[in-house]
Amino acid sequence: MADVDLRDKRVLMRVDFNVPIQDGKITDDTRIRAALPGIRQALAQRARLLLVSHLGRPKEGEFDEKESLAPIAKHLSGLLGADVPLKRDWLDGVAIEPGKAMLLENCRFNKGEKNNDDALARKMAALCEVYVNDAFGTAHRAEATTHGIAKYARVACAGPLLAAEIEALSKALDHPARPLVAIVAGSKVSTKLTILAALAEKVDRLIAGGGIANTFMLAAGMKIGKSLAEPDLVAEARKIMAILKAKGGDAPLPVDVVCAKELSATAKAEIKPAAAVEDDDLILDIGPRTAAMFAKLLSEAGTIVWNGPVGVFEFDQFGQGTKAVAQAIAGSGAFSLAGGGDTLAAISKYGVTDRISYISTGGGAFLEFLEGKKLPAIEILESRAATPR
Ligand code: 3PG
Repeated sequence: MADVDLRDKRVLMRVDFNVPIQDGKITDDTRIRAALPGIRQALAQRARLLLVSHLGRPKEGEFDEKESLAPIAKHLSGLLGADVPLKRDWLDGVAIEPGKAMLLENCRFNKGEKNNDDALARKMAALCEVYVNDAFGTAHRAEATTHGIAKYARVACAGPLLAAEIEALSKALDHPARPLVAIVAGSKVSTKLTILAALAEKVDRLIAGGGIANTFMLAAGMKIGKSLAEPDLVAEARKIMAILKAKGGDAPLPVDVVCAKELSATAKAEIKPAAAVEDDDLILDIGPRTAAMFAKLLSEAGTIVWNGPVGVFEFDQFGQGTKAVAQAIAGSGAFSLAGGGDTLAAISKYGVTDRISYISTGGGAFLEFLEGKKLPAIEILESRAATPR
């Protein structure tokens, strides 16, 4: 976008304003704030700015108040200090003055958005002279506003947020300062298996956490009591550990853990050596010796990629491990990259937001990037850049 003259032009900018809303109130506006630089740059050039986003997963072809962008238009107006009106029926064209922004109602109300309908994409492309994609959070979706429109718009380019995300993620994964340490945690190996396998090829150390670590512990012949794990994926976990070992890396496992007999806010936490886990124990966090060991590995890293809390940090008695990891990442001199919903909640709970080098606005998009997948919204912009009209 920085290379395109936007003056007086009709600019349709795809942003990701898919933010959590409860009782009409936005509970986390990170994604909206992250889009502000692109919006401000376009307005500074006196573009006629049409902002387009989805919210939730509404039924196409029907307006539903619950998924209206009305609260977002109001919030955005406050952040910009200028009125950003919301336009409900916009497919047939809208009038807009230079230097003004307008928010177009939830694009997923339009029939054909999800399945990237060609006629819809062409219609939207005709609304603008320049299409800007600044929605990294939705870059893993090939939909009419993220993909189809980019084929037909006269000019199609990336906005500053999308560019910054690609730069940060590529820096961490394609040209990392070594050692590259990844922490991948979460409840299930199955949902992150492809990420673990892709990262095993790239990283020097892979720290598994949460239910994923339990499956790795099983694979190493350790006892995990009745903890959440996926025994049918033990063979996959062994393969991942073997890949790392073969290239001189490792996947360190907990030496001590925090257990309880039940998972609840009032459950009593007990620290014990990993070898002392009992049959009726649930492992809900890493222990302090493990946290210190991981902290040391993180302090030696050149690059850190973090996705997922290592314990049930929503309950404080099982949050010390995640807190220690968050603080170790914050204190390390490494280039650190973090992303994914739970991870962001942990970063904010432990107050380290300002000390992580880059925090991605992507959830699914961040994970797919880690998997090494090509994101369709980025791919189409690259192909347009390669063959300009
Ligand atoms: C997200 O929150 O991951 C993106 O906004 C994409 O939303 P979706 O999963 O509904 O496509």
